[in-house]
Amino acid sequence: MGCFGCFAPEADEDLKPSKPDDSSGADARRKVAPDVANGYAHSFTFKDLSVATGYFNDANFIGEGGFGKVYKGKISGQMVAVKQLARDGVQGRNEFLVEVLMLTVLSHPNLVSLVGFCAQGDERLLVYEYMPFGSLESHLFGNLSSNFLCFLFVLANDVPLGKNPLDWNTRVRIAVGVAEGLSYLHNVADPPVIYRDMKAANILLGEDFSPKLSDFGLAKVGPVGDRTHVSTRVMGTYGYCAPDYVQSGKLTIKSDIYSLGVLLLELITGRRIYDASRPKPEQNLLTWSRPFLHDKRKFYRLADPALLGCYPPSALNQLVVISIMCLQDQPHVRPIVADVVIGLKHIASQPYAPERTPASMSSPANSGSPQLVRTPSRKRGGRRSAQYA
Ligand SMILES: Nc1ncnc2c1ncn2[C@@H]1O[C@H](COP(=O)(O)OP(=O)(O)O)[C@@H](O)[C@H]1O
Ligand SMILES: [Mg+2]
Repeated sequence: MGCFGCFAPEADEDLKPSKPDDSSGADARRKVAPDVANGYAHSFTFKDLSVATGYFNDANFIGEGGFGKVYKGKISGQMVAVKQLARDGVQGRNEFLVEVLMLTVLSHPNLVSLVGFCAQGDERLLVYEYMPFGSLESHLFGNLSSNFLCFLFVLANDVPLGKNPLDWNTRVRIAVGVAEGLSYLHNVADPPVIYRDMKAANILLGEDFSPKLSDFGLAKVGPVGDRTHVSTRVMGTYGYCAPDYVQSGKLTIKSDIYSLGVLLLELITGRRIYDASRPKPEQNLLTWSRPFLHDKRKFYRLADPALLGCYPPSALNQLVVISIMCLQDQPHVRPIVADVVIGLKHIASQPYAPERTPASMSSPANSGSPQLVRTPSRKRGGRRSAQYA
């Protein structure tokens, strides 16, 4: 038993013996124990965090998700993000505990760091390193830009209003970082961890657009020994959950691979997996993209118009193929994440070399540009509740 003894499998876990999952990577695996994590999370008082956020001042409000509101703050000179659990629901309490325990023992450059927490009375708060560029969701699917030049560019180029387009190379770099974070969870953490909440809103971006996975409240210790899955109530976000998991409740490492495939398709297309604001046939990304995914000659039709054609066509094709592989219905034929990392690194080795990059695209090169304006995320319907339960 590794350090996750406190995360004993759920009582309803299916104990049927079956062949081991091919993603075990036992040799490469390393015991993740608190003594190798980069420091223990600090226990804060509610007063500490009230002061840090200016008493949860609206001016410091960053956004709101299923867990509760998030505020920017400062503790001992370090910028932090403070997430306050909305006081309704047992589920939130469980997620709080899992998040603290997971992030206390897990440590990787592509995982967000937990600075500390507060569990005083009824209050439950989480304190993270502050990620200055917010979520991938806000960059990929756009916010209304306050930059007039960018606005003109958007109009002139027929880019859907409100987008701050990420350039191709940045998208690929984000994909590599996300897959590396997932590879750490699947192949290095011992026992392996199933993330279960891969989605654009949970990919947070550093100043150079380096991505970090966040929100481990739904994470599960993966199957160990002869087991191939963990039986659990179906949780996650609509559209990102693997169909086999939704139907059977059997969670495997490959459930994360399906969600990664959805994320890759979102990076390619700039479309949300589900977007109620689009015409009916386009609301579900998989339904809309199916005719293009089935015909290699039509792969280019998947490319986000906001890329303005600025991508290497062969790399686009390769990224579409990786996404297709991850999205296969049968979990056992989906690739393991280590292979996805190799594929994505290969794509990253063929960057788009523009003669002239459109100035208003978001990339590390112009990351200081004023169009990178982030607005608080809206509360999205259907998020994370046990939608299928
Ligand atoms: N560590 C962080 N640094 C900066 N912004 C963050 C951080 N954590 C969360 N946020 C922002 O707070 C908002 C709400 O986050 P969250 O509660 O995780 O909900 P969701 O994942 O559903 O968006 C998001 O816009 C996210 O970008
Ligand atoms: Mg989140």
